[in-house]
Amino acid sequence: MTVEIAQPKTERLQLRQWCDSDRAPFAAMNADPVVMEHFPKLLGREESDAGVDRQIAHIDKHGWGFWAVETLADKRFIGFVGIKNVTDDMPFAPAVEIGWRLAPAAWGKGYATEAARASLAYGFARLGLEEIVSFAVVGNLRSRAVMEKLSMVREANFLHPGLPAGHPMQEHVLYRLSRSV
Ligand SMILES: CC(C)(COP(=O)(O)OP(=O)(O)OC[C@H]1O[C@@H](n2cnc3c(N)ncnc32)[C@H](O)[C@@H]1OP(=O)(O)O)[C@@H](O)C(=O)NCCC(=O)NCCS
Repeated sequence: MTVEIAQPKTERLQLRQWCDSDRAPFAAMNADPVVMEHFPKLLGREESDAGVDRQIAHIDKHGWGFWAVETLADKRFIGFVGIKNVTDDMPFAPAVEIGWRLAPAAWGKGYATEAARASLAYGFARLGLEEIVSFAVVGNLRSRAVMEKLSMVREANFLHPGLPAGHPMQEHVLYRLSRSV
């Protein structure tokens, strides 16, 4: 069965399936300590490409996922924003999460929030989801600010199952938004 791939568009941004030319700039982001400040480690090219492969596979399977984002003005790849299924080991699984990672040159312009609003609209209006979650390392204030601008509601913190006990980044905040809000 062919899945129709959604490509939400906003005033300034195109969300789309990934293409090969995204791989190098995405790997540069994943090797940048500024972008990866709140992740346990920097990613090498192979790990970054494996991540791209996972996003492509999710979008191919469902028609939606963590979309590549490019600016309409200059067609430049700036990172990803979108919604995807959380992994089964998360304490709040099954759930759909919203997430984002942009290159620093694209920060401070409202792009993450703009793309996130389009992703939420897609999830609620087109997919009929009841709720969407988001999570981050407690100290990731930039990401939390995006969640709060989206009117997401904070819940109890949780320990990320992908990190070992006692890891300084293990404690995460969880936010949730219901369709009715
Ligand atoms: C999290 C992240 C996506 C947030 O990016 P961001 O650019 O700060 O977020 P927004 O798109 O909402 O932009 C908000 C900023 O744009 C400014 N802005 C400028 N023009 C704007 C416009 N037209 N509309 C809205 N905001 C605008 C706002 O004032 C705000 O700046 P401020 O925080 O200095 O006040 C980014 O920091 C990032 O990629 N971090 C690394 C990866 C990461 O941690 N991902 C999350 C893991 S959980």
